[in-house]
Formats: sequence, structure tokens, C-alpha cells
Amino acid sequence: MLDLENIDAYYGESHILHGVSLSVGNGEVVCLLGRNGAGKTTTILTVMGYLHPRRGTIRFNGRDIGGLPPYAVARLGFGFVPQEREIFPSLSVRENLTVFARGGRNGFWTLQRVFELFPSLRARERNLGFQLSGGEQQMLSIARALMLNPVLLLLDEPSEGLAPMIVQEIIDVLKHLKGEGLAILLVEQSLRVALAVADRHHVINKGAICFTGGAAELENSESVLRNYLSV
Ligand SMILES: Nc1ncnc2c1ncn2[C@@H]1O[C@H](COP(=O)(O)OP(=O)(O)OP(=O)(O)O)[C@@H](O)[C@H]1O
Ligand SMILES: [Mg+2]
Repeated sequence: MLDLENIDAYYGESHILHGVSLSVGNGEVVCLLGRNGAGKTTTILTVMGYLHPRRGTIRFNGRDIGGLPPYAVARLGFGFVPQEREIFPSLSVRENLTVFARGGRNGFWTLQRVFELFPSLRARERNLGFQLSGGEQQMLSIARALMLNPVLLLLDEPSEGLAPMIVQEIIDVLKHLKGEGLAILLVEQSLRVALAVADRHHVINKGAICFTGGAAELENSESVLRNYLSV
């Protein structure tokens, strides 16, 4: 469904991505792994239209989307969970969930259903964004993306800075969504999260993909784990 081919991306004159290729098929969970500064967020921002590739193509179901602005990419059904979570601090949990939802497509996900998936958010329904813990903010950011009824979910390091127990909750949610057939592009530094949920893995280093393969292959690639990931 999503195909990146040979993407070069820049911030101004800084050349960050060098020939990045990756794809996500229908119902597939693909993980992009890499250390700090490797180019993970840049890749996801390029897909979402915040940066435009100077070289290469981004296709969605065969259509070239590389020149679209972010709102048009979102309208294709790309649900984006940014690294900074970007919860509205002065809106309630319920307001955070409903503020954009009307612009999304109708479908499975409703307030009721996201509260079933995230019972802790239901309990905090009337709390304001700034009153939430880091884990709750992350859940809310994922829940908000689901309210748009995405066809593809893109998450930028959802486990970052969270306690192991909360990370497990995130893993369980992602597994559940995968079970429902949602396609996911997951950016992670955590090998634990990657191996628990993804079908295929790409490792990025200095803006270039240096490994592509399945879970078993990744676990057995000692040099990749040692050189390009923090394990
Ligand atoms: N706005 C920007 N302007 C210039 N350079 C940037 C900008 N944002 C990021 N960079 C640089 O681009 C490179 C890739 O950054 P990116 O944010 O994509 O890394 P990342 O893999 O997401 O890292 P992290 O795990 O820390 O989030 C880094 O060298 C970073 O310093
Ligand atoms: Mg990042």
C-alpha cells in the first residue's frame, strides 16, 4: 500500500535521507529501527508531507503522493502519532479525541470503542491533557489517531521514555490493532517493541537503510544489533 523508493530528503541544505526505500503492505506491520539521529523521524515526516523528497518516489496504492501537503496526506487515511505526542494540554481527554475526529472518515473507531481499547483514558475522560502521565499521553495520542479511522497508522517511538509495564500496554494495543488488520509503520529504538509486533524490519543508520529482514534474521544479525542499534 505504501512504497518509498530511493528517497533523498533535506532540511535546508542538510542532506539527511540517502536513498531510503521501504514498503508497507495491506495489514502489515513494518518497523523502522535506528539510533538517535539516524533519520527515523525525518522518514516519517517525509511520508506525512512535512518534508518533500528531492529525489525518489512515495506511492500510496500506486499513486505518487510525494508532493502532497500534510493535510492532504492525512486525508488519504494516514493516522500519525508524532514523537512529541502533541496532546492539547488545556483540552480534556474527550476533547482531544473529538476535536479532529469530525474531519476523519466514518468507520469502526468511535469514542466508545477507543475507551474500550484504553480503559485508563475513560477513567480520565474529563482530565486535561497536561494532567496526564507520559503513558496516558501516549495512549491518548494513539487513540486520537484511531478516531480518524486510518487505513495506515504511523507511530514515532511510542515506547520512548515509558516504564516497562506501560510499554507492554502499548505492545498489547499494537498487537490488537494488527489483529484487526490495520497496516502500521512503526518507528522504534526499542528492539523489544519491534520484535513483539512487527512482521518486517528496516534498520536505518545515517539516513540510509542498512538492514531489511524478518524478526529471526534481525535477532541473528549480531553486527546489525551491535553497530546500528543500542543493544
Ligand atoms: N529541523 C532540522 N534541521 C536540521 N537538521 C535536523 C532537523 N531535524 C533533525 N535534523 C537532523 O537530521 C538527522 C536525523 O534526525 P531525525 O530526527 O530524523 O532522527 P531520529 O532517528 O528520529 O532520532 P531520535 O531517535 O533521536 O528521534 C539528525 O542528524 C538531526 O540532527
Ligand atoms: Mg525521532
